[in-house]
Amino acid sequence: MASPKIVVVAGSIRSGSLNEKLAALAARSLRDAGADVTHISLRDYPLPIYDGDLQNQSGVPDAAKRLVDLFVAQQGAFVASPEYNSSFPPLLKNTFDWMSRVNIEGRPPLPAFKTKAFALGAVSGGAMGGYRGLTQLRAMMELGLGALVLPEMAAVAGGADAFTPEGGLANARTADFLEALVRRLVAQSGLLA
Ligand SMILES: Cc1cc2nc3c(=O)[nH]c(=O)nc-3n(C[C@H](O)[C@H](O)[C@H](O)COP(=O)(O)O)c2cc1C
Repeated sequence: MASPKIVVVAGSIRSGSLNEKLAALAARSLRDAGADVTHISLRDYPLPIYDGDLQNQSGVPDAAKRLVDLFVAQQGAFVASPEYNSSFPPLLKNTFDWMSRVNIEGRPPLPAFKTKAFALGAVSGGAMGGYRGLTQLRAMMELGLGALVLPEMAAVAGGADAFTPEGGLANARTADFLEALVRRLVAQSGLLA
């Protein structure tokens, strides 16, 4: 059976981003589990704040179309999202909003999100590890975008101290949880391959 294709993305483009670290770890684990991984940075897909007038005048920006093309070619996605004020950051909302405006002829709406398995993770300095933000992200992805989101969500508390110098997770239970999530994502994506 072909390796499932899985895209990995963090909802932060900040240098030193903890969620980018989590994304890098997830990408490594996904490869080890047999997936064909594409790890992207949203820095390479700059988008203006969504504005309906802008869309009417100029259409959907090329970066959003490129993202949709990339996502359509995958069976799975891992999203590492910071928590901003108990929700998820505007970078992810804006990116997914623009992507939701892209239609592909002959395909149902929201081609980037439907028929794809998503796994969600977060790192924050707070004790809940960004879990509250993930619940909001899950709601948007499932209810708004029609995505299939795996039930488990990897919330990594402790911020910068959560990682070992090698980029692994210092807490063994959290590491095991992420590993199980990664394996489930590969298995679920494989069903869609
Ligand atoms: C606007 C803003 C709001 C934040 N709100 C929360 C929050 O509600 N809960 C939390 O645990 N951390 C919160 N933080 C801290 C972020 O989780 C922390 O800065 C994290 O490292 C950001 O992710 P990144 O390192 O991937 O950029 C907030 C940070 C910012 C900039």
